[in-house]
Amino acid sequence: MNNAVFEIERHERDQIEALVAGNAVAFADKASDSFSYGCIELGTRLPSRVRRRLHRMRVSGETHLLIRGLPTRHHVPETPGQKRDSCQAPFYYQFMSALFSAQMGFMYRFSNKRGHAMVEDVFPISSDSEKQIGSNSIQLDWHVEDAFHKARADYVSLLCLRSDPAARTLLAAARKIVEELPEETRMQLQRRDYTFHSDETFLSGQAFKRTSYIIEPSQDPEFLFDPAFTAANSKAAELALITLAERIERCHQSIALQTGDLLIFDNRRVAHSRTEYQPRHDGSDRWLVRSLMVESTWKLKDSVSGTDPLTVA
Ligand SMILES: [Fe+2]
Repeated sequence: MNNAVFEIERHERDQIEALVAGNAVAFADKASDSFSYGCIELGTRLPSRVRRRLHRMRVSGETHLLIRGLPTRHHVPETPGQKRDSCQAPFYYQFMSALFSAQMGFMYRFSNKRGHAMVEDVFPISSDSEKQIGSNSIQLDWHVEDAFHKARADYVSLLCLRSDPAARTLLAAARKIVEELPEETRMQLQRRDYTFHSDETFLSGQAFKRTSYIIEPSQDPEFLFDPAFTAANSKAAELALITLAERIERCHQSIALQTGDLLIFDNRRVAHSRTEYQPRHDGSDRWLVRSLMVESTWKLKDSVSGTDPLTVA
């Protein structure tokens, strides 16, 4: 059995369903920071086997966990075709996703990211099909979320409301990749010889950028792989990035999310991507909800925007 897949048992599914349905009304109007803290508190009533498994992921530094078999009886309307400022998924699913996500860290949002919410929709948008953002339908390039940003997420959660078997989520773990790299390439990727900049979902565009390594010099390295938005600052840096991209194509895991799956991955330890697929734009397309989490708000402290401690610029 794959250790990274956790199957929800029937009695646990009933317990989760009752917890979500019984508290959704009270949580629907909460402001972002009290919603986040409320989910942390209420999440302690998730089944104990589930909480132990999430805890184990955090303390042992696992790259990802796929929780399979969450409740799916609540109606899912047609998949929207355009993004709005707030999440369009039924609150039931937003809330269920948030209860799990809050066990991994503090959910937060970027004020500078177009339409970004603490729980946000991910679905294909026809006008984005060729862009390098999550609403596209061409192959989504390898990346880590917001690699350029100091307040980038520690964990990302994806709850699948409606699946498409052709759209596979790919994960590449830094520790495995490092073993595959020639030493010279690894040493180059550990140099702060790369400049990261923001993607077009950020309103301030090129104003956001930072210089860093791609692979942290560490036994358990942070991975900052986002080639579509990274400039190599030397020829050697560029060649190392090409070698890395080749290795990743041969060394990754592939997951087709099913309805009722919640995938949580460590945004420090893995890069991710998604295969090309063919949306129909008729209301039946793939629909996920996504949250970003940090283990500590310390990481956000220089980026907080306004008075909400969980909204960053
Ligand atoms: Fe992503």
